[in-house]
Amino acid sequence: MGVSNKTAIVTGAGSGIGAGIAAKLAKHGANLVVCDLNGDSAKSVAEKINTAGGRAIAVSADVTNWEEVSAMAEETVHVFGSVDILVNNAGALKDNSILRMPLEDWELVINTCLKGAWLCCKAVLGHMRAQGFGRVVNIASRAWLGNPGQSNYSSAKAGVVGLTSSLALEFASHGVTVNSVAPGFIEAPMARRLPPETQEKVINAQPIKRPGRIEDVANAVLFFCDEETSYVTGQILYVDGGRHVA
Ligand SMILES: NC(=O)c1ccc[n+]([C@@H]2O[C@H](COP(=O)([O-])OP(=O)(O)OC[C@H]3O[C@@H](n4cnc5c(N)ncnc54)[C@H](O)[C@@H]3O)[C@@H](O)[C@H]2O)c1
Repeated sequence: MGVSNKTAIVTGAGSGIGAGIAAKLAKHGANLVVCDLNGDSAKSVAEKINTAGGRAIAVSADVTNWEEVSAMAEETVHVFGSVDILVNNAGALKDNSILRMPLEDWELVINTCLKGAWLCCKAVLGHMRAQGFGRVVNIASRAWLGNPGQSNYSSAKAGVVGLTSSLALEFASHGVTVNSVAPGFIEAPMARRLPPETQEKVINAQPIKRPGRIEDVANAVLFFCDEETSYVTGQILYVDGGRHVA
């Protein structure tokens, strides 16, 4: 029950929200594959989990690279015997008006958030279908509903929501659920890189006038990953202080 003895891959887990999700799942008894583009930060998160009595390995992988992603899935099965949970959390932010946005910034954000999630799903869903069990949680964003200056990010996260619905339908009969968590403003590096006046504006637009905690997102992810959450799929759970209804 719960996530005990399940094996989870969390991408972009070397910092911020991903590190918090990895720690939360490990605390609840899951084996962790801490994946990040930055191998050193992945190692440091995995070490912290192991020191706290959990079981974690670090994998340095670029989620936009199919060879690296498929090798990570194989290593996961080799080390822990299965892959039961995938949390697609790796992301990138490069805000600008579309008129000033270079093509590279469109491609970086679309590739990291959307192509990366698609590749990681492609790498693990065969294993999950074969074992008749799986939990995929895609970290979207409230921004998928649209934000000025985020044509790349909002499009990428809208794509993540579409990916979630499609895969929920494709894998429902195989014991695999696919859900999204859509955070709003969270006390984590990505949001804290926004200009201070933008941060203030965003928080003021929320019914709950404080930044969210990493723990708030991790709790939502844990709910979807639970073995007992087997009748919830294709869902978007907003963790945004009510911003999406404001
Ligand atoms: N912080 C927020 O307020 C907020 C709000 C909504 C959604 N989100 C989403 O939550 C997720 C985590 O955000 P965060 O604030 O913790 O950001 P962060 O920048 O701290 O974490 C992103 C991590 O992803 C890693 N990464 C980037 N490109 C990668 C790649 N190609 N392959 C593997 N790893 C890669 C980075 O090295 C980093 O460790 C992102 O998907 C983000 O879009 C964040």
